[in-house]
Amino acid sequence: MCGIIGMVGGDAPRFVVRGLKMLEYRGYDSSGIAVALGDSVHVQKGVGTIDRVVSVVPNGIAAVGHTRWATHGGVSDFNAHPHVDCSGRYAVVHNGIIDNHAELRDDLLERGHVFSSETDSEVLAHLFEEGMGRYGSYLDAFNYVVSRIRGQYAFAILTPDGYILAARNGAPLLVGRSGDSVFVSSDPVPLASVASEIYRLSDGARVILHAGALQILGDYVPVKNVSVRSVDLGNHAHYMEKEIYEQPRALKDTLEYLCREQLHWDLNGRIHLIAAGTSYHAALYGEYLLRRLGHDARAFVASEYLEWRGRDPDYVIAISQSGETEDVLSVLRNADGPIVHTITNSPGSTIEEYSDAVAYTRAGPELGVAATKTYTTALLALAGLLTDCDLSAVPRAVETVLRTAESEIRKYVPTLASARSAYFLGRSLDSVTAREASLKLKEIAYVHAEAYPAGESKHGPIALVEDGFPVVFVAHSSRLSDIDGNIHEMRARGASTVLVADVPSADISVPAVAPELFPIVSIVPLQLLAYHVAIQRGLNPDRPRNLAKSVTVK
Ligand code: F6R
Repeated sequence: MCGIIGMVGGDAPRFVVRGLKMLEYRGYDSSGIAVALGDSVHVQKGVGTIDRVVSVVPNGIAAVGHTRWATHGGVSDFNAHPHVDCSGRYAVVHNGIIDNHAELRDDLLERGHVFSSETDSEVLAHLFEEGMGRYGSYLDAFNYVVSRIRGQYAFAILTPDGYILAARNGAPLLVGRSGDSVFVSSDPVPLASVASEIYRLSDGARVILHAGALQILGDYVPVKNVSVRSVDLGNHAHYMEKEIYEQPRALKDTLEYLCREQLHWDLNGRIHLIAAGTSYHAALYGEYLLRRLGHDARAFVASEYLEWRGRDPDYVIAISQSGETEDVLSVLRNADGPIVHTITNSPGSTIEEYSDAVAYTRAGPELGVAATKTYTTALLALAGLLTDCDLSAVPRAVETVLRTAESEIRKYVPTLASARSAYFLGRSLDSVTAREASLKLKEIAYVHAEAYPAGESKHGPIALVEDGFPVVFVAHSSRLSDIDGNIHEMRARGASTVLVADVPSADISVPAVAPELFPIVSIVPLQLLAYHVAIQRGLNPDRPRNLAKSVTVK
């Protein structure tokens, strides 16, 4: 989703362009930069890649940049950020939503302001201009802007003489310093390689950056252990492929971390697991593990959770690789009473603010939009934190899949690449893998896919099956006999079936691990399958249409 990056100090525009490239993975449709030249502000923005929009920028004393993922107003050059006021002196970049933008816009129009975009964000630039007219000082004008707006936002204003004034309320914002250079960013990663100190602003905090000075008004917390992001693809064609292949390493690192920190969660009472998308599938896995141990556990899609208010749990387990998913954060913000345990791949992310205990996955930065290594490491973390399972065989089993399964997987690519729809079926824990595999195929290969527990076939879905309809089954050997009948039912109706199992006779055979650890291994060939189907269909799996890596709006 939208990203903000800014710097005051030598080489600011170059740093901002580099930072924008590091934010690319979050998904965006347009981008832009504003550079403070001393007596004016230069703005360059538009639809398209960062390389296209900001390939050449002038040098200056400070700069702010933005990647936009359209919410208010379509994808267009004029809706791209930064936005400027009527005088063109002040440039604004903004993430989130200004709830009262329509009434503010009407007021400002009445007072003669001229708007050049359809965005909610542009009101910030005009309010600042108006504040300057009223009070004549940056701080007072900035406070005026904050006092007028309602919503969930992070924004930064750049002035011609190199001040950056930034505020946060419900959307992430961090600041950093290194010598005389000061930085602001919505994501810790661009700061990791340059700033010696990084702080996450708390909601309601504001900050003023100017020539070597960082003045924070409000609360903040120091951020440590941010991974320096490598944008090197190595031998891989896409980040998604690279990240799939990184899984043995990511799992090993996560395991080592869990062992070193001796992390184990002893939970009791009612436990709710909250997450979205792929992380929700991890939550379902956690639910299975906890229920098997006799706990009262239930996984929820975060955006539906408020329906359940009044049945407050004793513990919440929140899972979010980015730590910034608004649907998850809003549950935690409104949670009253439960102890919150969190699993995230992003040290320094906002979710930490709402957590009593945090466990990290050590997947390293994930730049492909589709979650792969952050999913398997979240499953491993759940198994490590909640059970006494011996996890040591898992990284090796995944390594074996990646070494041996590729040729088996490729056989099924043409069928799925030409299919209009597919089913993914499993029972018990394998139905979690089926859901995740189906989401992967949908989101990066744009093939409609549905997952449901295998036993449900004859209660309706089998009606769609005709000659060649692809049905992918997933089964641990201990659950194979339960699924055998379902495979035959499908084949008898002409379905083109594929079985992923830990037996040599399977179509895609994977190494044997304990039944409760099987989802960490069996999803890997299905991630690869989705990847290859996307490639066969001529799609870029790293940039699926309409999707963003970090979903910071409701
Ligand atoms: C799918 C995917 C999304 C995310 C979801 C939650 O591949 O990546 O479904 O899983 O947006 O994101 P996090 O885990 O950051 O809360």
